[in-house]
Order: sequence, then structure tokens, then C-alpha cells
Amino acid sequence: MPPKITINPNIAQAETLPSDFYLNENIFKESKENIFTPSWQFITDVHRLDNTKVFPFTFLKGFIDEPLVIINKGENINCYSNVCTHRSHLVTNEPCKVNKLRCPYHGRTYNLDGTFNSTPGFENVENFPTEKDNLQSIPTLQWKQFIFASLNPSIDITPVLNDIEMRLPNFPFDELTYDENNSASWEIDAHWALYCENYLEGFHVPFVHQGLAKDIDVGTYETQLLENGVLQIAEGEKEIPILNDPKTLNRKIYGLYYWIFPNIMLNFYSWGLSVNIIEPISKEKTRVRFLSFSINSMSQPQEGDATLERVELEDQSVVQSVQKGIKSRYYKRGRYSPTHEKGVHHFHGLLAKYLP
Ligand code: FES
Ligand SMILES: [Fe+2]
Repeated sequence: MPPKITINPNIAQAETLPSDFYLNENIFKESKENIFTPSWQFITDVHRLDNTKVFPFTFLKGFIDEPLVIINKGENINCYSNVCTHRSHLVTNEPCKVNKLRCPYHGRTYNLDGTFNSTPGFENVENFPTEKDNLQSIPTLQWKQFIFASLNPSIDITPVLNDIEMRLPNFPFDELTYDENNSASWEIDAHWALYCENYLEGFHVPFVHQGLAKDIDVGTYETQLLENGVLQIAEGEKEIPILNDPKTLNRKIYGLYYWIFPNIMLNFYSWGLSVNIIEPISKEKTRVRFLSFSINSMSQPQEGDATLERVELEDQSVVQSVQKGIKSRYYKRGRYSPTHEKGVHHFHGLLAKYLP
């Protein structure tokens, strides 16, 4: 049995996560069932489904590896298991526009609501078909133009989504378009939680991101704890009306950084939205995906000392250094700065809560 992880709710007394959390293979395995299976994962924006009815994907590729398929029927968008109920061949491999799904192995077909349709060679089979021969339905959540799916949802993310709606009534969600050229994916040598906890504090900004530190006001950087989430607010030099709500009219908000437990980040900027998805691969390898959605003709800034890519590479460098240190026999756990590390403490508390 892996050691039980606890985090003192009083940040002034608390110690950080023990290094065992990042090193113990059993804890990593437990996080699959206890943290990622109940989580909501960002799948796609609906515009990507405009020319397709059937969109297969893998839920947390290389980690949970569950083959699923989104079926877009126009008025409703649903998700199903992409595994044939006969002998488990994948039903579909490519996004496509069809009226029935046909398993390529022995020709079983399914309707676009996931129900069994036909199967050759089964004429004399008794008690067949039953419900079990339909494709398993998977819970989805559509918010704005984004689709999330969960294998067994028990981590409620609506408090975070509601907070975004309340705080960003002027943000032009309708004008966002996916910007493939400014989207990217990296594989880094670090535990996924080290990446998230670095994201959850602005404490390191003056030390690690000298370019970004010139653009944002480190003195007014703010962290707010939400249910299953964290919001960080950075102020800059200009007023950006789409980032303001009536209650913060005179704040010069530069970026709103929302994190959704355990691994999704929604970052709102003057030019649009950057969605970051942090996907575990092993306990020392993580895939970091950045999806860029820009407002109409605007585009992510590509010049200067504070581009997303530059800041990202600076972050990856520190996180990979922490990965080396976390394995040291001389490091067990540390303490939190109550001024700067509330978000990290909240994250660690959630991890401890969801692990068995
Ligand atoms: S596995 Fe699909 S029809 Fe046999
Ligand atoms: Fe950073």
C-alpha cells in the first residue's frame, strides 16, 4: 500500500506534498482511477466538427488510453465508446461524415445514437441483441463552443465555468477561432503535477520570466481559490475592456489564468484564449498541449520577451529541474509561502482529497 498523503489545511502550518507522491509508481497508478477517470477532459471545440459527424479520439493518450468517439448530430453532440461490442475492434479510426458506423472487422453497424443496428452471421444467436450490444454512452459537457468528456464524472467543474462567465461577460467567445499555427505540443521530462504546481503560482515570475515580469505588475498579482479550481489575475499597463467585468472596471487586467482540477488551464488574453492541457504519460513524462483560439483577426503576439512560447520554455526548464531534485534522497517535502503559494496548497489539498 502506498503511504497515505495528507496536506494540512492551514497553509501556515502545512508541508508540501511528500516527494513520494511524484516517485511512487503505485500512487501514479492510483491517480488514474481516482483523479483522471473522474475528471473532465477538454476534447475539442465544436467548429472542428463542422464538416464531420464522427470524431474518434483517445481519452488521455498514453495514460488512460480509452478509445472514444464524438458523434455530432447537429442539434446534439454525444460521446460513445469507440470499441465494437462484438470482439472489441475499434469501430472508427478517422473523422468522417457517415449515417451509420460500420466496424471494419466483421461488419457490425451502429446508429449515430450508439445503438446496435445490424450484424451479419448472428441469425441463430439467442437473447440478442440486448442493451449490451449498443456502444457505451460517455458523459459530455458542452460549455460555450467547447466539449469536455469524462469517464466517470465526480469532479464538478461548473463552479469554475460559472466564475468565468461571471467575470468575463464581455469576452467575445463567439469570435474565437482555432489557430493551428500558434498551437503546439511538447513532451517534457517531469511529473504532470510539477508542471501544474508551477503554473499555480506567480511567485517565480520575477525570477524565471524576466520578460513577462516587465509586462505584468507583480505587486498586484492575485490568486483566488475556487471549488476544484484556481484563478490568477495579472494586471498590466493597459485597460483591456474584454477582460473587465463591471466590478473590476478600472483594473488593467493583462491576463486571467483559470486552472481546472486536475490538468486544464484556460488563459484569457487581449487576443483570445490559450487552452493548456497537461497529460501524464509516465511519472517522469508529460505531454503539454497548447491550443490557441484567437479573436477574429487578432493573433497571439509573436515578438518580444513575453511571448507564450518563450514563457513556456522558461517554465519547462524549471519544471524539469524540479523533476531532477524531487528524486534526491535529501529532499522530502517543503513549506508554502502563504502570500504566494495559496494556489499550490489548494492543488495539493485536492490531490490528497481525491487519492484513496
Ligand atoms: S469486432 Fe466489430 S464486428 Fe467483430
Ligand atoms: Fe511560469
